[in-house]
Amino acid sequence: MKAKKPTCPDGVRVGRSSAGLGLFATRAYKKGERIIEYFGRTLSTAEEYTSRSKYLFEVNSRKTIDGTTRANIARYINHSCTPNCEPEIERGRIYIDAIKPIKPGEEFTYDYGEEYFDEHIKPHGCRCAAH
Ligand SMILES: C[S@@+](CC[C@H](N)C(=O)[O-])C[C@H]1O[C@@H](n2cnc3c(N)ncnc32)[C@H](O)[C@@H]1O
Ligand SMILES: [Zn+2]
Repeated sequence: MKAKKPTCPDGVRVGRSSAGLGLFATRAYKKGERIIEYFGRTLSTAEEYTSRSKYLFEVNSRKTIDGTTRANIARYINHSCTPNCEPEIERGRIYIDAIKPIKPGEEFTYDYGEEYFDEHIKPHGCRCAAH
């Protein structure tokens, strides 16, 4: 059976960006508004050390999520050094919230953090709007 194309939640769309695919607003968002949940499979401790996935998200010292599933639309959000969103962790789940007012058509971005940046972004150069 062919895998179904995941549907985007209201207010967001996947599109081309300077860093491959990205996630864009289809309506205005207020500062502090919740955009989307970043979800996926929780890794075992062994997998945390061996996984080479580009979609790992460390929730806390005991929990890392692999957001590779295409149903996880938040996986399309790119890194920026001047982001307009921020991940918010609540009861072991990850949500992406706006930290600035966002206009329709704007790309959602958050700061991936030093560890991910140094490993996956820096070697090829950051393609965010700040450069
Ligand atoms: C979570 S994915 C983001 C979606 C990705 N652009 C795509 O097309 O599926 C993370 C990967 O996107 C790329 N990426 C995200 N932000 C970037 C940036 N600011 N500069 C360069 N590459 C970036 C890197 O390859 C990174 O490992
Ligand atoms: Zn940058």
